[in-house]
Amino acid sequence: MSKITAAITAVGAYVPDYVLTNKILETMVDTNDEWITTRTGIKERRILKEEGKGTSFLAINAANDLIKKRGIDPKDIELVIVATATPDMKAASTAAYTATQIGAVNAFSFDLEAACSSFLFGMSTAAKYIESGRYKNVLLIGADKNSSFINYKDRATCIIFGDGAGAVLFEPNHEGLGLQDELLRSDGSGREFLQATYGGSSYPSTPEAVAEGKHYVFQDGKTVFKNAVFNMADVAVKILERNNLTKNDIAFLVAHQANKRIIDATANRIELESEKVMMNIEKYGNTTSATLPLLLNDYEKQLKKGDNLIFAAFGGGFTWGSIYLKWAYNS
Ligand code: UT7
Repeated sequence: MSKITAAITAVGAYVPDYVLTNKILETMVDTNDEWITTRTGIKERRILKEEGKGTSFLAINAANDLIKKRGIDPKDIELVIVATATPDMKAASTAAYTATQIGAVNAFSFDLEAACSSFLFGMSTAAKYIESGRYKNVLLIGADKNSSFINYKDRATCIIFGDGAGAVLFEPNHEGLGLQDELLRSDGSGREFLQATYGGSSYPSTPEAVAEGKHYVFQDGKTVFKNAVFNMADVAVKILERNNLTKNDIAFLVAHQANKRIIDATANRIELESEKVMMNIEKYGNTTSATLPLLLNDYEKQLKKGDNLIFAAFGGGFTWGSIYLKWAYNS
């Protein structure tokens, strides 16, 4: 029997309706459209405004979009992984709620958290279940409601982050398509540069901490930026080298959308033309776990069976990595 590889066979997405533009941010913090556009490439981001709706709301809608497009019966889904840095609640699994709400009643499910690398690491995890031969499909959802952890008085973070979700289905492939190679890394000495300090087990929320905004995401942007540029490019170069790929072999770079300058720097290191760099940061900002599937959804029609895609991400922790995947279908 031929070797089983894990291929992406369907994509879905969801972003909330409310559009937070740079112009609106100008009225909230000391910033301006020109600064945000030139320093980050972001023009607007989507925000989930309705009270009581969390990350699962985004995840459920993205999953339902995929289920409708692909025409699968949710009862046939075997595993649901929700990659997220902003779960609905402590203790209760966001993935369990999501799976039940979409009708995946025969699936088991769990959340996977690795900050902005959650979806990338989720791709690796989902692929292993398929490659083992034990599972016939895995629904991987990347979803984050970042707006619930952002201080809209802090211009270092509120201009960057947005809310959204994307989903992909992994299934076995016998033509050698799908995930080919991966290089995943982490370095916990980076956690002081990007974190929400209060609200976890080290520092549970207190009225004082909340009053001081210590439960919000804080980042030392410059340090995160430098590490992101170096490490994302480093793993992308290494994965190309060890698979004997040149820039001419690559159809697209699918890079985490945190800052256009970080993505451009990675593309420059592998000497990739800008037409081969997926980009939608101008519309959504940094949606953490949703950036990679939102890119796949936006570019799905341009992708062809056999295309070589290089994924790359960097995020809090620090966590980062690169995945080489062969696209498995024409849409
Ligand atoms: O997903 C992974 C997590 N996050 C990231 O990957 C983000 C990585 N970091 C970044 O994207 C960038 O560091 C930022 C976009 C956050 C900031 O850009 P920067 O080019 O590193 O700016 P900076 O912090 O070095 O600040 C440059 C100047 C400063 O003014 P002076 O000291 O030169 O007068 C800042 O006070 O820009 C000022 N500034 C702003 N001005 C207008 C900082 N933020 C803003 C702002 N609007 N929002």
